Amino acid sequence: MIGFNDMRNPFQFGRELGLGRLVDRKDELGAVERAIRDGNKLFLIGPRRYGKTSILKTATDRLRAGSAIVVRLDAESFPSIDLLVAGIISAAAKALKGEMKRVGEQIQRIFSRLRPELDYNVTAGEWSVKFGVEASRLENPVLLVDALNGFEKLAKAQPDGVPIGLIIDEFQRIVEIGGRAIEGQIRAAIQTHSRVGYVFAGSKTRMLQDMLMEPTRPFYRLGTNIFLGPVPRADFSRFLKEKFVATGLAVEDTAISHLLDLAEDVPFNVQMLAHHCWTRLRDESRAKLPTLTSSFVDETLRIVVFQQDPFYTQLWVALTAIQQRTLMSVVAEKGKNLQSARVVQSIGKGAGTVRQALLSMTASSILRDDPSVKHANFRFEDPFFARWIELTAGL
Ligand SMILES: Nc1ncnc2c1ncn2[C@@H]1O[C@H](COP(=O)(O)OP(=O)(O)OP(=O)(O)O)[C@@H](O)[C@H]1O
Ligand SMILES: [Mg+2]
Repeated sequence: MIGFNDMRNPFQFGRELGLGRLVDRKDELGAVERAIRDGNKLFLIGPRRYGKTSILKTATDRLRAGSAIVVRLDAESFPSIDLLVAGIISAAAKALKGEMKRVGEQIQRIFSRLRPELDYNVTAGEWSVKFGVEASRLENPVLLVDALNGFEKLAKAQPDGVPIGLIIDEFQRIVEIGGRAIEGQIRAAIQTHSRVGYVFAGSKTRMLQDMLMEPTRPFYRLGTNIFLGPVPRADFSRFLKEKFVATGLAVEDTAISHLLDLAEDVPFNVQMLAHHCWTRLRDESRAKLPTLTSSFVDETLRIVVFQQDPFYTQLWVALTAIQQRTLMSVVAEKGKNLQSARVVQSIGKGAGTVRQALLSMTASSILRDDPSVKHANFRFEDPFFARWIELTAGL
């Protein structure tokens, strides 16, 4: 029998989860897979750390397990558009099965205007791409549009029935670095494509919301939009309980809902807190049947939050006094009523100043506003920063 000490922590955080590790998300996975199989366009938008990348990874794994060719990239890991384009082309070369020489020739022919210079690294099994002199004269939008058109051509050259997908994570980054002009160019290209299925995911909720929902913007009604909500509580509770119990621990039901409350249902924070609870129970408990209780969750949270104290302190001292007081109100009011006379008065400044503080902290990703609810509701992007404020300010 495997002892408790040798067991792997069942709660993983901070990286993309793969096949069989996601709680729920069946609808979203189905939508991503369908979009790629049917050659459609899908936008997946959600707050930070809600599990977008994990959905994309799992869907990619599942599609590839069939016959699909899927290229998945994170726009944030490319500092410029030409590097992103090189990334698309080398990933396409890598995804194409077949004899090396033939693949290389095919890529060179299809992306001919970009004059890519391909290099194959045998040990890494990877292609790398540099552009010829010609391409460096092309403007960013032209480069990207050429790459997308080339990708469609490549897809059309594949046998019928082989789904081809291009998945771009943190998609808003392309517009951030490429400028607004690139939006229209991308639309013009991909609306004529029917062979490649596109999935674009992003996390700047407000920015992407404007991009997709304003009739004057190019991406308006270009494809299907999915807004990612939290993992349903009942499913997350069941998962947490099962994993604790399966590894030989007992669980008080109230402890699980308390854990979800403290992490505000943000999947990353839920898994992180559960992870540390599990480790502490394993390392510290001498009881016959170590039990997860609400007070144990509280103690663990305090440890986790104070481990990050230098980081949170730095974040806090960089804020103005009015921003700090506004954040304290967000914590105390649980994100609601922030424009009400009572709260504005307690912050001690005018309604306009409070609003400005909320907006600037949303822009700097400390807060996010939840556009799915009618009345403005501000949440912390990192709920543990809210817990740190509670603990240090004695709220
Ligand atoms: N469906 C899920 N079930 C269980 N845990 C999840 C789920 N989705 C996400 N998580 C947890 O959240 C963590 C972050 O997930 P992921 O990186 O996919 O989110 P993201 O939305 O892409 O985040 P970011 O905004 O930082 O890019 C995972 O490592 C995992 O711990
Ligand atoms: Mg991500």
